[in-house]
Amino acid sequence: MKRALVQKAKCFSLRIDDIAPDKSISHRSAMFSMLADGVSVVENFLRAEDTLNTLQIIRHLGAKVEDDGKVLRISSEGIKESFEVLDCGNSGTGMRLFCGLLSSAQGHFVLTGDKYLRSRPMKRVTQPLRSIGAKIDGRNDGDLAPLCIRGGELKAFSYESQIASAQVKSALILAALHADGECRYKENELSRDHTERMLKGMGAQIETDENLVTTIQPLQGPLKPLHIRVPADPSSAFFFAVAASIVEGSDVVLEGVTLNPTRIEAFYALKRMGADITFELKEDKYEPIGDIHVRFASLEAIEVSERISWLIDELPALAVAMACAKGRSVVKNAKELRVKESDRIATVVSGLRACGIEVEEFEDGYAIQGGELQKGKIASHGDHRIAMSFLIAGLKCGMEVEDVECIDTSFPNFFTLLEQIAQVSVEESA
Ligand code: S3P
Repeated sequence: MKRALVQKAKCFSLRIDDIAPDKSISHRSAMFSMLADGVSVVENFLRAEDTLNTLQIIRHLGAKVEDDGKVLRISSEGIKESFEVLDCGNSGTGMRLFCGLLSSAQGHFVLTGDKYLRSRPMKRVTQPLRSIGAKIDGRNDGDLAPLCIRGGELKAFSYESQIASAQVKSALILAALHADGECRYKENELSRDHTERMLKGMGAQIETDENLVTTIQPLQGPLKPLHIRVPADPSSAFFFAVAASIVEGSDVVLEGVTLNPTRIEAFYALKRMGADITFELKEDKYEPIGDIHVRFASLEAIEVSERISWLIDELPALAVAMACAKGRSVVKNAKELRVKESDRIATVVSGLRACGIEVEEFEDGYAIQGGELQKGKIASHGDHRIAMSFLIAGLKCGMEVEDVECIDTSFPNFFTLLEQIAQVSVEESA
């Protein structure tokens, strides 16, 4: 196990053009290429553990992946039964989307993951998929991996989801593409919509109306190949947005980030807190893409209780900004945090308390009394976003974070970028 020590930072001014490529879009680009009838070309694919696992899985499923180190060229002749156990590693997105993709494929498939993923709930996808005829099983009556899937015929459906989850929506859309008729999926709050954008770009017939009902027509044949350059990941970029907002006098430009509204709500929350943030749109193909400029300004407390799915992954880093703000910030309606890579309500609360911050815990969130962050010893609980959030907090006061290997699941060059701001050392734990 490795631990990282970061020292207090001086003010910085940076342009970052190598924020990690978007994880959600990278997973999808690999998986969706399997639905096309030609060579999909994917530039700037995220080479991190989670998405490399997905790439390995599509190879096991028969895809041919040519990789010149920069661009991936992916082709496939349909999904083939695999001799291998399909290992999603730490990735909930990988496992849940593969459930949807494999439910209609010919053959028997076994999906597994690391000890954290094997404890996360899968019934949110296995139950609706089973209800349309998918044959999926796993521990605890299909809730926990390893999961076994025997692909087969799927019935058309109309499903209303009780949780705003892009993973559930995407799994059901992938299943709908091979169902025996038109399908409808309704959500109560729009979750990230990369699946719909990308599949539509490939020629699938998918429409979402103003009541958030997505209608999906079954495929008549293969889709057009994808030609995509994956934008930078706003969830990764956000760590450096928080860094610039809490280190007095700092300024950062985050280049080439997806500005998809379902992904940048945390930047708006930080702006509401008083941070000086501007967005510059540069292009718009499958996604709007541009630069985000963040300059230091003193922060005030806010309440966050709406459009939670638009900033769910950024809440741990936002909690660090809240700890540095004047007043009591509140996060509510965020129960989904409990089933992420760690129980992020518990890990944010215990981490901030270890840094001397007063925090009240709720079942669905927390209240943070802004104050003076102090150097603490933080356990990441194997959760990349917890590890990175507390290293960013360390820019104020120094910090020691245990178990930092998990950062490689989403942001392999995080330390290289952090070193441009502060002294950092990573060492083997005693
Ligand atoms: C993701 C959706 C979100 C998010 C996760 C990535 C995706 O999960 O937290 O990091 O790529 O679809 P939920 O769909 O469970 O909210």
